[in-house]
Amino acid sequence: MLTEKTNQEKLALDGGTPVRKEPLPPCFPGGMLIGEEEKAEVLEVIEAKSPYRYYGPNALGKVKTFEQEFAAKIGKKRALAVSSGTAALKVALAALGVGPRDEVIIPSVTFLASVGVTVMARAIPVFAEIDNSLNLDPADFEAKITDRTRVVMPVHIQGVPCRMDEIMEIARSCGIAVLEDCAQSCGATYDGQPVGSFGDINAFSLQFNKVITSGEGGVVVTDDDELYERAVRAHDHGVVRPETGQILELYQEDAFFGENYRMGELAGAMALAQLRKLDGMVSTLRPWRQRIQNAVSDIEDFEFRLIPGGDGDVGFTLVFFLPAKEKARWFIKAMVAENVGVYQLYGGDPVYAYPQVLNQKTATDYDSPFRSPLCDSKVKYHMGMCPRSEDLLSRSVWVPIGTTMTDKDIDDIIRAIHKVVGWVKSTRHARLK
Ligand SMILES: Cc1ncc(COP(=O)(O)O)c(C=O)c1O
Repeated sequence: MLTEKTNQEKLALDGGTPVRKEPLPPCFPGGMLIGEEEKAEVLEVIEAKSPYRYYGPNALGKVKTFEQEFAAKIGKKRALAVSSGTAALKVALAALGVGPRDEVIIPSVTFLASVGVTVMARAIPVFAEIDNSLNLDPADFEAKITDRTRVVMPVHIQGVPCRMDEIMEIARSCGIAVLEDCAQSCGATYDGQPVGSFGDINAFSLQFNKVITSGEGGVVVTDDDELYERAVRAHDHGVVRPETGQILELYQEDAFFGENYRMGELAGAMALAQLRKLDGMVSTLRPWRQRIQNAVSDIEDFEFRLIPGGDGDVGFTLVFFLPAKEKARWFIKAMVAENVGVYQLYGGDPVYAYPQVLNQKTATDYDSPFRSPLCDSKVKYHMGMCPRSEDLLSRSVWVPIGTTMTDKDIDDIIRAIHKVVGWVKSTRHARLK
């Protein structure tokens, strides 16, 4: 696949001409598509002087409409819009009744929020290995189950679904609740079924870096009426509002302490416009991911990330593994110099590498499930505890694919990969092999 010409081109890293003069466009999938539709929806809310979801002079019910369309998209009975993905996870854990003495199994590769919400619920995160999909390894999930395990939290990392069939089977057979963290993968499917439709109660993020966005925002989805009711309470001061939206009646039998994680109408209006763009995004991104992968599939040093359950990824990243960590680091540097930005998710480290996780540090000792006699936990963390995860992530290369890229941009990505690999081969340089 390597042409004579690309073989001979000097790398930009070594002073050659880069493949592109300018970097590729930024890769915020929904964010880069914000336009007239979002403007129109948001403007309606402003003109109605009604930015609050439950009442106003002319409340338009944008959040409600968004919830209905979102639930239909994921194929769940209920959706609850909240103020962030973290809030969605928090509310979902509260709905499940997770608390002290409980353990939550979390993949070692995820964003801090999956771990943080667990600790804030006074439960103990237990880390499991990932597999070649860079998502939770079902076998290690099973191995990490103890008599304290209450929940497993499969995280669909960067648009790729987890092995949901196996995870569900293990969880069901052990009586463990499943909370899918879909923050990074709205629009992905496993065996044709949307992520977020497998677990008991599942969470999405609408933060700016996510597939669809309202700047900040999140969604909880479930088929279970009781979990939904508890989630509604947990997101709104522990109460269920009457139709009028005003909490006038103080006495509610099922009320509990809660906080405020409500979504406002401005975010709801934006989220609605973005949701209607989701299918279009996936049908652009996925074929581009496939095109790049096909074009570089014969490079012997590349091993591609597994996509479980068919080609149901969102398509905003292509990931492959190089034979060693140093090669991956060098390859990334060489690509960036060509103005084709590639990277390593979370700097190539598992989530437990963060010092606050390793050292089990909470805001106060009083808050800490790790130090509370009530929790009585002996769980400790250390580097090397999930060696396969550390190895895979450190050898991975992530190629972002943006919704506003052009065919030429995609060709440039392919050309840059061939150039860097070709240069290594033509000089018989041992940088990759
Ligand atoms: C896997 C995962 N879970 C949860 C979150 C939290 O979402 P938010 O930033 O909307 O609170 C994120 C977002 O960064 C995430 O990547």
